[in-house]
Amino acid sequence: MIGYIFNPEFYGKGYATEACQAVLNYAFAELGAHRILALCNPDNAPSWRLLERLSMRREGHFKKEAFFKKTKVGILL
Ligand SMILES: CC(C)(COP(=O)(O)OP(=O)(O)OC[C@H]1O[C@@H](n2cnc3c(N)ncnc32)[C@H](O)[C@@H]1OP(=O)(O)O)[C@@H](O)C(=O)NCCC(=O)NCCS
Repeated sequence: MIGYIFNPEFYGKGYATEACQAVLNYAFAELGAHRILALCNPDNAPSWRLLERLSMRREGHFKKEAFFKKTKVGILL
């Protein structure tokens, strides 16, 4: 499973995409991973856009699976 939290000062520069792609490449090529998954609040557009840039695909929508507390700085699980 992959997850990420970046410093807001560095949003919008492609760093998360580059870092996550490197982790996925390492997991598949070096660790022999068969499958990698991520969980994402569907209201968190930057997160699902990142996952789709990484060519990950949507496979399920888990209703009432997690509680999210909205704050001024983002959405915390
Ligand atoms: C999720 C999170 C890591 C995404 O950050 P991000 O800055 O959108 O992602 P990247 O660093 O990959 O940057 C990509 C964005 O920069 C833009 N960008 C600018 N220059 C770029 C470049 N040279 N290369 C790639 N993207 C670039 C992209 O177009 C993209 O913007 P868009 O989504 O509006 O199209 C960040 O929002 C975060 O840490 N959120 C808080 C924690 C969180 O919610 N975690 C997920 C829990 S499920």
